Amino acid sequence: MLISRLLLTSDWTSVILTLFAVYISFYYYKYFSRKNKLPGPLPLPLVGNLIEVAKLGLDNVPKWFFLLRERYGDYFEFYLGTQRIVVTCNAELMDKLVDPSTKTNFFKRHPENSNISELGYNAHGIFFNQTFEGWKFNRKFLSKSLMSPKFQAELLQQQQELFCDASNYLDLLSSKIGDESLESTKINLAATMLSFNADLIIKMTTGKTGGSLAHYLKNNYPFENYKESKRLIQKSNSNSAAYEISIELTKLTRGWSTDTMYIFSLPKWLRHYVPGFSHFNKKCLNNLQRTFHILHGIIEERKNEIENSPKEMDLESNLLTLLLLANTERDPDRMIDTNGEFTRPMTKYEIGGILLEVCHGSIEEISWVFNSTVYYILKFPHVQNQFLEEIEKILGFDLARPITFEDLKKFKYLDAILYETLRLSPPLPVVGRTNTVVDEIVLDESS
Ligand SMILES: *[C@@H]1O[C@H](CO)[C@@H](O)[C@H](O)[C@H]1NC(C)=O
Ligand SMILES: *[C@@H]1O[C@H](CO)[C@@H](O)[C@H](O)[C@H]1NC(C)=O
Ligand SMILES: *[C@@H]1O[C@H](CO)[C@@H](O)[C@H](O)[C@H]1NC(C)=O
Repeated sequence: MLISRLLLTSDWTSVILTLFAVYISFYYYKYFSRKNKLPGPLPLPLVGNLIEVAKLGLDNVPKWFFLLRERYGDYFEFYLGTQRIVVTCNAELMDKLVDPSTKTNFFKRHPENSNISELGYNAHGIFFNQTFEGWKFNRKFLSKSLMSPKFQAELLQQQQELFCDASNYLDLLSSKIGDESLESTKINLAATMLSFNADLIIKMTTGKTGGSLAHYLKNNYPFENYKESKRLIQKSNSNSAAYEISIELTKLTRGWSTDTMYIFSLPKWLRHYVPGFSHFNKKCLNNLQRTFHILHGIIEERKNEIENSPKEMDLESNLLTLLLLANTERDPDRMIDTNGEFTRPMTKYEIGGILLEVCHGSIEEISWVFNSTVYYILKFPHVQNQFLEEIEKILGFDLARPITFEDLKKFKYLDAILYETLRLSPPLPVVGRTNTVVDEIVLDESS
């Protein structure tokens, strides 16, 4: 009745407003009468609690979880778009959720979601793979490459080379502190190390020389006139096209979870047809397409280089090269197994998916851990002293000499510092699981 009268007066604005009001009432009616209620922040229709996360910034998502736990206790729920997420902080329940057995009901990381198809090739890799065999296939290649001694040796070498460049620059900076001709005399260590890590990860995954550190330092501490800083600046000027690609790739892979989460958690019609939402949707899809385009260009290029190089030539051991070589004639330890599951090489789409996930998952997280570690070491002077003693004992006074694996193994106190930092300030404090069949997670009576 109401609707037909509104239509007669052809006042579309009130029709839409009325429908909207009805929708909102219905939404909250359903919300307040939901089964198995748990405490949690009040969601908004369609977007759930996404706005709170967006306000805090993606870098602070770990903090958000700690905040929710403080507010609501060990069991709570929130809404990722229209999807309800239940969080438990109970260690005993975790055992069941992360059970490594193949018979577990909680193998999947996220529920079935038809929106994933919109991600295109960006949904390749490990996280989005919904079949156990596919997941295992990709993981096996990744762990084989990362664990290989050649990769580890290359990592240690690249890290020290890059650090040399960075520390020359930082030494220079600290010697200029107080120089009145400089505007900024404070070094932002967290931001510097973030670009340092970005370069290291880009190099170790794609083999490309990263330009983030030079870019960051050049823009924040313009030292072009000092001869000590020439090496870094020259490196960046001589290779500017490759540098720009690496900077763009860093930016895209860092934003990957925002782009995918947006597409993953909001209903299709909202993203495609509602102004504002559709604009952002386009931006996310463009980013994903561009990421895919850059990665696949790099993969093709490397593949050609390998094919055109002599068979006995020793190739550098970055992740891309190792993944391309895995299970080909040039792989000295091909994975053979009885089911024949892992005997083929990977396709470029599979490799692209893994490179993307590794870049995304490590740049931010390693920087986070570095930042927290430095913070805790400086906060506790006795820890700092003991750590300095350990450095002196293992490396002696010649801090310029290269560090070897044997040295690293001796750093027991540093290990302890790192474990404690990870405990106090985990870079990713959540593990996501979805049940494949109906299962019961029992909360204790008191809750
Ligand atoms: C899961 O992995 C397998 C093996 O790489 C692949 O064939 C399949 O397309 C993947 N599934 C998704 C959704 O990416
Ligand atoms: C997309 O995701 C939302 C939220 O999880 C879900 O409600 C919807 O069914 C999914 N699929 C489509 C096609 O919108
Ligand atoms: C680094 O850690 C400190 C202490 O936990 C924190 O206050 C700061 O926001 C962190 N910086 C970044 C960029 O993460």
